[in-house]
Amino acid sequence: MAKVKPLSLEKILFSQGFGTRRYCNDLVYAELVYVNGQLVTDPDLTIQTEALNLRVDGQEWAYHEKAYIAFHKPPNYECSHKTKHHPSVYGLLPSPFIERGVQCVGRLDHDTTGLLLISDDGQFIHQMTTPKKNIGKIYRITTSESISQLQIKQLLEGVVLDDDPRPVNAKDCVQLEDRQIEMTIVEGRYHQVKRMIAAVGNHVLLLHRVMIGSYQLPSDLEEGKWRWLTVEDCALLGKNHTK
Ligand code: URA
Repeated sequence: MAKVKPLSLEKILFSQGFGTRRYCNDLVYAELVYVNGQLVTDPDLTIQTEALNLRVDGQEWAYHEKAYIAFHKPPNYECSHKTKHHPSVYGLLPSPFIERGVQCVGRLDHDTTGLLLISDDGQFIHQMTTPKKNIGKIYRITTSESISQLQIKQLLEGVVLDDDPRPVNAKDCVQLEDRQIEMTIVEGRYHQVKRMIAAVGNHVLLLHRVMIGSYQLPSDLEEGKWRWLTVEDCALLGKNHTK
């Protein structure tokens, strides 16, 4: 791993999303910034960024060069900065994330719940969303009607959606209950799961994303809450889940 460079406190605050360079300077001069528990009043002070903990105007903040976060999306939120009918998931995140330009890594519908990745690393977002990478996403689906063996077979073999003649298929499909399955898909077409289920003559009532690659939504991460992903978590994201 590349050695982390020390940076001035002003640059660090700016990189983390605490405002303009000028505003970050002012935060330091106003004695609102603590570095690893110590008050620092010089914005030009050079600081090692490894394992760095800041407190900025009362907000605890662990330095991360890039943001990789797991978020438990609640229902009735849109994955967009400019929402149409519901509040934005971005409103549930601390403001420095918005300032540093984080984006959802693929969107979930407003009524879908579960694991959503959010990042400010464009390369990571691309890698996680390109179908070429073949990264599986597992959805728990509750339907209005019983799910038949024929429907599961059709989902696995491939169905044609109305906007594209190329069939899409589930990589895996496991029945949990009469009206509940867990389905793995690798592409991310518009409303893909709902349209696949409709294509086999059923209807999605509840949709919840449980896993991306081999990274599972942590059971102790409550709806509406987020957490930093570790290097190990990111490695799991890029590795397909095997049973
Ligand atoms: N497929 C859908 O239909 N909706 C989602 O939110 C995600 C996948």
